[in-house]
Amino acid sequence: MRKIVLRLSLVLLGVLMASPIAAAQISSHAENLEAEPWWKHAVFYEIYPRSFADSNGDGIGDLKGIASKLDYLKDLGVDAIWITPCFPSPQVDFGYDVSDYENIDPMYGTLADFDVLASEAKKRGIHIILDFVVNHSSDQHPWFLDSKSSRTAAHRDWYIWRDGKKPGEAPNNWVSNFGGSAWKFDAATNQYYYHYFYAEQPDLNWRNPAVKDAMFDVTRWWYKRGVAGFRLDAVDALFEDPNLKDNPILRPGTNAFGDPIEDRKYNTNLPEVHDVLRGLRKVADENDAVLIGETWTANVAELNKYYGEGNNELQLPMDFLFTMVNKLSATEFRKQIGAVDAASGWPTFVISNHDIVRSYDRYGDGEHNDQIAKLMAALYLTLRGTPIMYYGEEIGMKTTTPARKEDVKDPIGRTGWPEEKGRDGERTPMQWDGSENAGFSSGTPWLPVPPTYKTHNVADEGRDPDSVLEFYKKVLKLRHTNAALLQGKYTALNEGDAKVLSYLRLYREHGVVVALNMSSTPQRVKLELRSKGFASARQLLASGDASVKGEEVSLEPFGVFIGELTK
Ligand code: GLC
Repeated sequence: MRKIVLRLSLVLLGVLMASPIAAAQISSHAENLEAEPWWKHAVFYEIYPRSFADSNGDGIGDLKGIASKLDYLKDLGVDAIWITPCFPSPQVDFGYDVSDYENIDPMYGTLADFDVLASEAKKRGIHIILDFVVNHSSDQHPWFLDSKSSRTAAHRDWYIWRDGKKPGEAPNNWVSNFGGSAWKFDAATNQYYYHYFYAEQPDLNWRNPAVKDAMFDVTRWWYKRGVAGFRLDAVDALFEDPNLKDNPILRPGTNAFGDPIEDRKYNTNLPEVHDVLRGLRKVADENDAVLIGETWTANVAELNKYYGEGNNELQLPMDFLFTMVNKLSATEFRKQIGAVDAASGWPTFVISNHDIVRSYDRYGDGEHNDQIAKLMAALYLTLRGTPIMYYGEEIGMKTTTPARKEDVKDPIGRTGWPEEKGRDGERTPMQWDGSENAGFSSGTPWLPVPPTYKTHNVADEGRDPDSVLEFYKKVLKLRHTNAALLQGKYTALNEGDAKVLSYLRLYREHGVVVALNMSSTPQRVKLELRSKGFASARQLLASGDASVKGEEVSLEPFGVFIGELTK
């Protein structure tokens, strides 16, 4: 009985929390919008807390710092923030090694700070998404400390312990994603434990129901504190073949860490992960929450599995195939957008994150980087699907990788140097203004502020109507207020055009056309509007001089045209 009452109150809490800015803005501006779950029309924004805003001058960002920037985020057009791990952690992998799932690391603040952040965010209609590191904990987590203490410890089976093949030989050939064998020998108990990432990140044993119960309870605990969902870290690595079969070797040679190149057939993407996702989704549904997945897949068929049958698993599995379109190519983007648009669930678009080189220089040609940043904004913020922005993308932050191995903070950059220089470059401090340390901290920032803070920062760009930031604000405003952009269907136009990517978003009688010149030369294209029942378009937003005459649109190099269709 108590359980039922508790559930009901959680559902109520969920309903109360589900009054997002997106819903408010949409209902007042876009008519006739069908009732949709909040996360479909929300714009998500990833915050790497170490690098966002430092309130106490220790050079490391914190929760109070995030709270101080909520007005900025709201003004930008953000509806939900995903905070990468801010839980107690020895910080071997900068928080992705969690030693207590139900607390805040003192370097980021306290639970009371979290509560203030949650309530301030709620006042502004901003949802909070936390990062749930499901595959592994820290080796300093009390569960692992107990697990390691003896073969008969209560938590022994919470992790994956095995005997070696023979003395001195790991149980199989699996290599860690972060270099070296995925097995570490523990002399005290004479067994090996498995770690897909660093040895300080032992994998949890999800075949043990006690692990599953404890981890499900972690989500309930945070839901009660006002969290609106989770980004599930490294979900594809959750299960391993119980027989520990050796992975096949893909080809001769070695990777950046000097390890054999394996097909991770027996330690990733095992079907058992879907049972866990269905279970986590049930708990999420009881709380009107969203589950985002770190879902690296080889194709859309694999991505579809993460939505689950009848969409009963992840609402927002990230489409990393989109981030793998590594060059500005209309043909390649069209292909990937078409593929994910036909997926069995609602698409989720990202162009950068804390593990991926920033989009600014990934697509930039060194000469038109700002125009290209605007073009990319116009692309992923006008597609049918939920976008997840990465902090700093909106001001054109650049990947700034350390030049010397001794300056690298990310351990994989030290073990993989020079082939793999680590992820520091995309995790540098947010550039708030042109003052010392870019206004990020009054102390010495944990990573150096990139020199580009002088030209690319929030304060200065806010004063320049032509800046990347102002363009982001305009696109986001349009996206929040235009019914066709919110939920219109996607229709590709001019599919043979290798230079201009164009498409329609159609919703009932509303229609928007988007044309993006992905080339460095001016383009004049005749869009296939008539065949779709429209005569022309009225400009809503453009980047660079753009003009439209009937079906014909003229675009500057890397120019953008977004227009309302006319009959
Ligand atoms: C995910 C995170 C990455 C982290 C790894 C191990 O891939 O995005 O930053 O290092 O998991 O937790």
